[in-house]
Amino acid sequence: MASSTQHGQNILTAVDAGILRVEINRPEKKNALTGAMYQALTEAIELANDRAEIRVILLHGQPDVFTSGNDLKDFLQEPALDDDHVAYGFVRAISRAVKPIVAAVNGACVGVGATLLLHCDLVYAGQSATFALPFVNLGLCPEAGSSLLLPFVAGRARAAELLLLGEPFSAARAEACGMVSAVLPDGDVLAHAQAQARKLASKPPAAMRASKALLRAGIASGVEEAIRTESHEFQRRLQSPEAKEAFAAFLAKRPPDFSRFT
Ligand code: COA
Repeated sequence: MASSTQHGQNILTAVDAGILRVEINRPEKKNALTGAMYQALTEAIELANDRAEIRVILLHGQPDVFTSGNDLKDFLQEPALDDDHVAYGFVRAISRAVKPIVAAVNGACVGVGATLLLHCDLVYAGQSATFALPFVNLGLCPEAGSSLLLPFVAGRARAAELLLLGEPFSAARAEACGMVSAVLPDGDVLAHAQAQARKLASKPPAAMRASKALLRAGIASGVEEAIRTESHEFQRRLQSPEAKEAFAAFLAKRPPDFSRFT
């Protein structure tokens, strides 16, 4: 039987045929993630961990945007300055998720939107999806374990380009870097991800959970450590004049000026 919940409308969830569908739904702000949205995403993952009838999580955004990452206004007004902040809670939850996660990515996929994919199991992207890891450009640093996971999946040289230059990159590049399982015509992504989720949901659940865990076990403790180390640096960076200039520039729709910083 299907059931659905609306978390303040910005995160929509529905359970049907063993699949917990989680939709990011804040199109007017390009699906930027607020504290309440991180909390709702964390609760969705915990629900899947706890409920036997949920076999798979299917995560997606809107046809033109997956998510533009953390809400930059929140970074200024309610920065995540300790490990108990809901944003870090979400990162810990997705990195420890028990059930497989299938992601369907259309449109922009920025910041934590892209790094969360490194914790998903199957990732399908539309051919015109665009990715970016603009942490340095924002005066920040890599998060969500990406300083370890991206070199692991993409190789150090490619990870350094993506994380240090922070330039947008295509779905084809994301696939070449090991962040995406397959690139599909834009209009086919969600249906394909749903079909793959149905396949996963039909398989023996204990074998699935064990196999997902084994695929991550080799670097799981390193990922936990990376998430902790990164978050402490991220907290320092969030309070830096560089970051404040970057966020203010974005919100004022002007280019940032880092020339006065040493
Ligand atoms: N935080 C807060 N607001 C955001 C946002 C974010 N991460 N991303 C987009 N928005 C808001 C914009 O401020 C704008 O709001 P307004 O209509 O009140 O002016 C609205 O969403 C539409 O965004 P816009 O930039 O006009 O859309 P676009 O299609 O031209 O570009 C993006 C889309 C995603 C490429 C662009 O919005 C972007 O680069 N966003 C910031 C991404 C980012 O740096 N994320 C943080 C990573 S750590």
